[in-house]
Amino acid sequence: PLPLLVGALFATYYHLLVAPAPSYYQSLFLSLGSNDTAAAHLRALTVRPHLAGTEANALAADHVVSTLSSLSFPTRVTPYEVLLSYPVGRSLSLSAPGRDATAFALVQDTYPGDPYAAASAEVVPTFLAYAASGSAAAEVVYANYGRREDYAYLASRGVNVTGKVALARYGKVYRGDIVKNARDAGAAAAVIFTDPKDYTPGKAFPDGPWMPPTGVQVGSTFKGVGDPTTPMWASSEGCERVSVAKAMSTHDMPGIPALPVSGRDGEEILRLVGGDVAPEDWQGGDGAPVYRLGPGPAVLNLTYTGNETIATIQNVISVIEGKEEPDRYVILGNHRDAWTFGAADPNSGTAALLEVV
Ligand SMILES: *[C@@H]1O[C@H](CO)[C@@H](O)[C@H](O)[C@H]1NC(C)=O
Ligand SMILES: *[C@@H]1O[C@H](CO)[C@@H](O)[C@H](O)[C@H]1NC(C)=O
Ligand SMILES: *[C@@H]1O[C@H](CO)[C@@H](O)[C@H](O)[C@H]1NC(C)=O
Ligand SMILES: *[C@@H]1O[C@H](CO)[C@@H](O)[C@H](O)[C@H]1NC(C)=O
Repeated sequence: PLPLLVGALFATYYHLLVAPAPSYYQSLFLSLGSNDTAAAHLRALTVRPHLAGTEANALAADHVVSTLSSLSFPTRVTPYEVLLSYPVGRSLSLSAPGRDATAFALVQDTYPGDPYAAASAEVVPTFLAYAASGSAAAEVVYANYGRREDYAYLASRGVNVTGKVALARYGKVYRGDIVKNARDAGAAAAVIFTDPKDYTPGKAFPDGPWMPPTGVQVGSTFKGVGDPTTPMWASSEGCERVSVAKAMSTHDMPGIPALPVSGRDGEEILRLVGGDVAPEDWQGGDGAPVYRLGPGPAVLNLTYTGNETIATIQNVISVIEGKEEPDRYVILGNHRDAWTFGAADPNSGTAALLEVV
């Protein structure tokens, strides 16, 4: 189910050839927008973290509803019950022969004076949604971006991933594919880190816009579309569903435990990985340790417990019926729920959409 806001704002488009030049509409359009109200929408939508299925995300829906209603748009809310995934327990510790195990905190630091520090406490713990619950304690293999060709390279170098913990970095493919490729290569678990080389090319937040050392990218690892318990049909009230157990056992699910970690934690793990030196294009940036392929001697002990549970989400829908071609739809919309505050993804889009309205 896609959260859609349906409008026919651009019905006039069809008359452009006979109407005044586009620049007229462009300047009219731009003159109607206001940075101040767009900013106010963004602030209202992102004042709290608003993960899908939570009360905070229902409140963000209320903001969209009240904005559309106040502008006399016919608006309705359609709730859906869908299978969502939340973390219940996580732990990750690093050890090596002759070295005591150290547990990672798995916490993203706030910075001194952060006005959102209190609200940040509501942010969901870092996790990969729909990862399998379970644990693995095994030697680490470094798998670059976790693509199929990266595993083929490891095999060509005689590095056997079976039963190991695959450590890959974000960037080139969808995180769901990073975990799936690790599983297909035989890994018992996967850990994904944000390499500062790719995510911190300049000053880190709050001194600049880039990912800070303890920043973690969170997200889904489901490879399907929509609600996993209603593949290819709508999650309407009372509809038929496949069981949660069955939904979690399809090939669209990661099938192994997995966790995302920060760039700082990723580098700490790689400092203890031995074996052959990884190729040049597998290496990190300035100041990074030399990345090696493994396996081991670094050992990661990962445990993850998720809660896959049916929760309620809301689609907010407005329709303006066109005077001409009323059966033809022009669709404007985006999703509203966020893994954290969502100021960039997705709510810059929501704020812009409300400003267009
Ligand atoms: C809105 O902000 C943008 C970017 O700063 C600026 O280019 C534009 O002129 C502003 N528009 C208005 C109406 O103030
Ligand atoms: C990889 O290791 C597994 C488990 O030890 C073993 O069964 C498998 O034969 C190994 N694969 C290769 C290609 O050596
Ligand atoms: C891995 O960590 C879990 C949780 O801390 C612990 O219960 C378990 O004994 C550890 N396993 C190994 C092999 O160290
Ligand atoms: C899973 O989520 C449901 C619904 O929010 C909740 O009732 C249940 O207590 C949760 N289970 C665990 C183990 O957290």
